[in-house]
Amino acid sequence: MSAPTPDLPELVLAGSVSERADVLVIGLTSADGTPEILAGDAPVDEAVLGELLDNLVAVGATGRSEELTRVPAPASLPVASVLAVGLGDADKIDAEQVRRSAGTAARVLTGVETVATTLSAVDLGAAAEGFALGAYTYTEFRSEKSAPKEDARPVARVELLVPSTRDRDAKSALTRATAIAEAVATARNFVNTPPSHLFPAEFAERAKALGEAAGLKVEVLDEKALEKKGFGGIVGVGKGSSRPPRLVRLSYSSKKRKAPKVALVGKGITFDTGGISIKPAAGMEAMTSDMAGAAAVIATVVLAAKLGVAADVTATVPMAENMPSSTAQRPGDVLTQYGGTTVEVINTDAEGRLILADAIVRACEDDPDYLVDTATLTGAQMVALGTRTPGVMGHDEFRDRVAALSQEVGENGWPMPFPKELRGDLESRVADLANVSPHRWGGMLTAGIFLKEFVPEGVQWAHIDVAGPAFNTGGPFGYVGKGGTGVPVRTMLAVIEDVAANG
Ligand code: BES
Ligand code: MN
Ligand code: ZN
Repeated sequence: MSAPTPDLPELVLAGSVSERADVLVIGLTSADGTPEILAGDAPVDEAVLGELLDNLVAVGATGRSEELTRVPAPASLPVASVLAVGLGDADKIDAEQVRRSAGTAARVLTGVETVATTLSAVDLGAAAEGFALGAYTYTEFRSEKSAPKEDARPVARVELLVPSTRDRDAKSALTRATAIAEAVATARNFVNTPPSHLFPAEFAERAKALGEAAGLKVEVLDEKALEKKGFGGIVGVGKGSSRPPRLVRLSYSSKKRKAPKVALVGKGITFDTGGISIKPAAGMEAMTSDMAGAAAVIATVVLAAKLGVAADVTATVPMAENMPSSTAQRPGDVLTQYGGTTVEVINTDAEGRLILADAIVRACEDDPDYLVDTATLTGAQMVALGTRTPGVMGHDEFRDRVAALSQEVGENGWPMPFPKELRGDLESRVADLANVSPHRWGGMLTAGIFLKEFVPEGVQWAHIDVAGPAFNTGGPFGYVGKGGTGVPVRTMLAVIEDVAANG
């Protein structure tokens, strides 16, 4: 079974704008309202930049964030045109600004084969990631009838201008950025694969192929093994579907002594109809993205291995399809989670927490120091934080650390509380726990509180709800197109690297 191969543009270091380049992309900042070209030590002649700035000012460019201005190129450059992309206030430019501006440039430059850019002089890694992810498209299911025409094809090659292409720091920054972009694209590909083609057994096969190619240890439990070992949450959710559930485990060992152990867990519902507590038809197609947490943790453990991070990382990934049928679980059923906790399934649409609970207990059998789980868990996440801000919950200190790192990488996770009084709402008439609260207030937090019941003492835990942020149903922005976004791959990588460096 073939693993999804991200189709990203070729990213290369360049010591000058080559004859192959069609367009030069430069960054334009606004310093106290006056536009200025920010090209740092990029190898482009000062006089040429001066001429360019005059031309840009003449057509009204201001340098405000993500503004796009395209002008004919000065005669001495081998390109036909120059695209200036706004970076906003000169004193507020960070890596995420560069990533977004590069992504916006990449998105408008369809039909252009080779782009050269000086954004690499502002932040090489961010420019590379932004171009690669902005140029990402998912065309797996387009036949010739609707395949992108030449003028709609994404940028195929990006020349990142640097003073020396032999510079070791530049080389390693590019290698790293390429690996990160590939991981984000891998997660996006999984999310964008329709539920007709990505069901638990198939998802497990693809995860296994990816893991094996990266040298990871891979373990897959099928429905019989899940039943036998007592994974009642995964079995209960999966039993309404003719396409049985799986539990996939991918392990990366750094081979370093005393390396910290990080367990990742991601929700892999390949389609969520709601089950017997069925969802309304409007918008249900977006539930193809209900495996985005799984996609992100699979991509992240593979990325950690590729980067050789000094931490031992495992991904524990429960996969199921939540369908209504005569074999589906019913509202009122009681199931026994892996580890023995009983749960009354009041609402079969609160299925994510049921499969995650099993996976969390399994992941913690390895005594990890840290546990990060991520899921498209609640519509309430979007009610609370909107579509682009992940909700981060868990143990206060680790939650704040994860949210801060998420902010740093531009995925913008935000810390959320566990108000004490909400725990009582999960009391069940018949079982240890109910899977939902009798009211809808604080729904994202209640889901987190449910998961907390399964996290053992001594494990530092954070839960990232990405219901909105993992799947973009609106228009494209920055380096994000429609569909799967790859969130929170970069947050989890930052957490693993931070833990590797600081314990
Ligand atoms: N997969 C959904 C959450 C979701 C909603 C993700 C919208 C992305 C976009 C989850 O399984 C779900 O159905 N949650 C319920 C929980 C409720 C029954 C307590 C919800 O949010 O309505
Ligand atoms: Mn659901
Ligand atoms: Zn769901």
